Amino acid sequence: MKKKMVCFSCISVNRKDVRDFDEEMPSRSIKSSGRSLGGKGGESNNQKGNVACSFTFKELALATQNFREANLIGEGGFGSVYKGRLESALASFLLSQVVAIKQLNLDGLQGNQEFIVEVLMLSLLHHKNLVNLIGYCTDGDQRLLVYEFMPMGSLENHLFDLEPGKKPLSWSTRLKIAAGAAHGLEYLHCEANPPVIYRDLKSSNILLDNDFNPKLSDFGLAKLGPVGENTHVSTRVMGTYGYCAPEYAMSGKLTLKSDIYSLGVVLLELITGRKAYDSSRNPGEQNLVVWSRPFLKDRRKFVQMVDPLLNGQFSVRSLHHAVAITAMCIQEQANFRPIISDIVVALDYLVSQAESSDSQGGGSQTGKQTNQHKEN
Ligand SMILES: Nc1ncnc2c1ncn2[C@@H]1O[C@H](COP(=O)(O)OP(=O)(O)O)[C@@H](O)[C@H]1O
Ligand SMILES: [Mg+2]
Repeated sequence: MKKKMVCFSCISVNRKDVRDFDEEMPSRSIKSSGRSLGGKGGESNNQKGNVACSFTFKELALATQNFREANLIGEGGFGSVYKGRLESALASFLLSQVVAIKQLNLDGLQGNQEFIVEVLMLSLLHHKNLVNLIGYCTDGDQRLLVYEFMPMGSLENHLFDLEPGKKPLSWSTRLKIAAGAAHGLEYLHCEANPPVIYRDLKSSNILLDNDFNPKLSDFGLAKLGPVGENTHVSTRVMGTYGYCAPEYAMSGKLTLKSDIYSLGVVLLELITGRKAYDSSRNPGEQNLVVWSRPFLKDRRKFVQMVDPLLNGQFSVRSLHHAVAITAMCIQEQANFRPIISDIVVALDYLVSQAESSDSQGGGSQTGKQTNQHKEN
């Protein structure tokens, strides 16, 4: 399922590819699917089609009509994201590709480091549930990243503060998004070698294609995981409030289980339609995990925490399984949280059940907001 990348800009001369950053690379090489994909010391990325290429600032200004306000599609902690179109003439054909261009506000060295980690990680790691990096720009002080354009934006755009008339995500689509995100994380934890700790799993970093297939984005904070006897790596605490595992927030000890906690928070958002952290709510309800704890303790209360926008259109049995998985992921004790492969199996099962019930027509309606919830 590897998407072949068309990099028009690479057609012209004077292109440098991501290997130019080798000097700043971590000294360990990352392997994926048993094949070395990069690193210092000779073994370069031999997947030519996936090598991110370098653009000039002028090319990206042209692609976004000078970073026109009308092309602005989002703003995050590190900069603004614009929709753009790369055009290139190849023989007598005019080729065109829609892309998302992120212009970083460089906040000193740290921002530059995140830029480099993002380019390196996304050049080495390729999976259908990870966003594809097309290229980057390092003209002067400018730092820009060019990604494949994800037409449905982020999961966040479909869960919270919906504009009137916008259709909420169905239960089966929510499960599909959860399972896809889990597959992306499984690739990082189990197939990349050494494992990669993502560190920034949140609904705004889960991007969606036209069929609501999810892709993880933003790897600037990612870390190569522990190797050998070690169980953790120590770092400065970074990440997003509300998604951060308690032990990591307190001690800076980062493990694969920190990502599992963040995945649990995203599952909680999918189930409840509430934000991980929402300062506009009453004090006891601002932190989603804290708010959810009393519901999670009692199976009979599971249904009370469900997103009202689902309008009861879900199977109670499926809900119970999804809440059980979520509760395991957000346990305070990191060791008790499941490993990603087990979560993938459980979520894939729920997706297959939801799809077969959808195809039998009617979609499950047993969670209708009455007091008579049937188990189906
Ligand atoms: N590749 C992309 N395709 C489409 N939209 C994107 C893409 N990357 C980012 N976006 C949009 O831009 C917004 C801002 O992204 P970002 O700068 O990563 O900040 P954050 O992840 O904190 O929201 C995202 O929430 C999303 O809506
Ligand atoms: Mg993001």
